[in-house]
Amino acid sequence: MTANIQSGEQKSWAETPPSTPPVRHVIGEFVENQTWLDKLANPIQQWLLGFFGQPGQPNRKLKDMLNGTWLGHSVHPVLTDIPIGAWSGTMLLDLVSLKDESDGMANGADLSLVLGLLGATGSAVTGLTDWSDLDGTDRRVGLMHGLLNGSITVMYVVSLILRRTGQRRAGIAVSSAGYLASLFSAYLGGEMVFAKGIGVNHVAFEGGSDDFVAVMNAQELVEGKLTRVDVAGIPAVVLKKGKSIYAIGATCSHLGGPLDEGTIQDGVVQCPWHGSCFRMQDGSVVNGPAVYAQPAFDVRVRDGKIELRRLEHA
Ligand code: FES
Repeated sequence: MTANIQSGEQKSWAETPPSTPPVRHVIGEFVENQTWLDKLANPIQQWLLGFFGQPGQPNRKLKDMLNGTWLGHSVHPVLTDIPIGAWSGTMLLDLVSLKDESDGMANGADLSLVLGLLGATGSAVTGLTDWSDLDGTDRRVGLMHGLLNGSITVMYVVSLILRRTGQRRAGIAVSSAGYLASLFSAYLGGEMVFAKGIGVNHVAFEGGSDDFVAVMNAQELVEGKLTRVDVAGIPAVVLKKGKSIYAIGATCSHLGGPLDEGTIQDGVVQCPWHGSCFRMQDGSVVNGPAVYAQPAFDVRVRDGKIELRRLEHA
């Protein structure tokens, strides 16, 4: 219950009129509801997934490289800073050059524009690779983000041509419009990460107990079978291999897939959703698209029970 202090009336929360949804929800939901994007997304995604192939195939290594598995961090957000920063520089130098009219300022603006184009190319390739694993409304927002960025890049190319053919003011007008559009596109990129959790470590907040926790009877663990257990609220997957027992987090760090429903081969578990592979021994990534390792657990058997304790990654 809440009290109306002025009138002395009391209103229940249920009677309170709903507040206006934040702007983010309005924009986000608008893009999410654009079902026509699926028609475009389907063939592009199918082609990309066919091109990259399965783990172990040659092009899959290229996908891992573009995803950032080798870096332990997604490459796309690293590269997106280049066009945003460079084109901010273009905008600033353009403004000064309009007043100053010196060649130095104009050339500086054009150079930072070209630098932005190079960064935009890298961002597009890595972004498309990350996007190829998405589905549903995430895929729609990601595609809208990509389409906008593609259009913005074309605007900057047109601007460069105008600048180099003596139509500098027209070129500045086009790149300025592109800059404004890039702010909205950057917002959609942020929506993907902060609201939808794309590109983040999906096990980042899984703490786990510092003490050993009994999770199951040792006799019940079947050799070679992935078994899901609960470690004080954290899902883990356990595997018995010979005399050894291994355990890592059961929620895939990529997009939250259930590793206990995956497949196991040579001590490596493969996520059923997008094929990321992790070593059961220590949770390390064997191949992407995951870029973050799985939480690993210390395992011991006491009084017939399997006990797990969270291991910190080196
Ligand atoms: S959720 Fe994508 S690979 Fe596991």
